[in-house]
Amino acid sequence: MNELKGRSLVSITDYTKEEIIHILDMAEEFEKNQRQKILDGYVISSLFFEPSTRTRLSFESAVQYLGGSVIGFASADTTSVRKGESLKDTILTVSNYSDLIIMRNPIDGSARYASEVSPVPIINAGDGANQHPTQCLLDLYSIRKTQGSLDNIHIAMIGDLKYGRTVHSLVQALSLFGATFHFVSPESLKMPSSVKTWIKKAGLEYHQYTDIMDIMPIADILYMTRIQGERFPDPLEYEKVKNLYILENSMLAPSKETMRVLHPLPRVNEITEDVDDNPKAYYFQQAKNGVYVRQALLAAILGLK
Ligand code: CP
Repeated sequence: MNELKGRSLVSITDYTKEEIIHILDMAEEFEKNQRQKILDGYVISSLFFEPSTRTRLSFESAVQYLGGSVIGFASADTTSVRKGESLKDTILTVSNYSDLIIMRNPIDGSARYASEVSPVPIINAGDGANQHPTQCLLDLYSIRKTQGSLDNIHIAMIGDLKYGRTVHSLVQALSLFGATFHFVSPESLKMPSSVKTWIKKAGLEYHQYTDIMDIMPIADILYMTRIQGERFPDPLEYEKVKNLYILENSMLAPSKETMRVLHPLPRVNEITEDVDDNPKAYYFQQAKNGVYVRQALLAAILGLK
């Protein structure tokens, strides 16, 4: 499938169901054989205007396993953005130096804007509370790998469903596969109505809860999220909700044997460390899967596979 060649990835909705499956299938191949020097001679820009550990380093790892080179920055503090340079001028400049740009930016919609002005493809590595499509693809990869299929799963999403961009992308993608959604959050952090409308339009069901134990026997996937303190306009509101959902090992007892706990990470305190040794904990493998999925994306968008 070479329809992905040269195309930016800004939102998971930019990809059809078939294109998503194609990337996941390619990622499986990279998991079997990670060191393929198909990016020899390519330069990839990694522009992170917002902090990151997994997304930035797994992308850079993906490029280097494939034999390519990375330029870029992990903070805009050392760039001419601090002198007032615009995003457009930054993108136009960096596109002179590289074949593809990976960008994380705190402003919703910035990735779409960058894709409209850039002569080279843009991969959105997270724009504000809006979208995180590459995280979505690695989440899908992890769900398929642990459940055997993406079809008709019951997924529970817990915590910050308002500001958590990963859950927004994941709902949109799983709507293509007939999922049933179980949302657990405080009133102030409920899933936005635009996302719930998306589910209804797909003819699917969602249910809302405030008690995490209500979904424990039902869920195939328990998708924990961090309360995104940095996105709250009022720090007092964050204080009220920051400790509401803390998953402890004993709470997993009523869950299905095949259920797996996912979390995009970083975690703060929403999963206690005693969960880490439970075979149902899958979040560190999930982060590892990010390298294979990002290798697949780079190969597809650069037209190398
Ligand atoms: N999941 C994720 O986006 O992690 P980072 O913020 O560390 O990249």
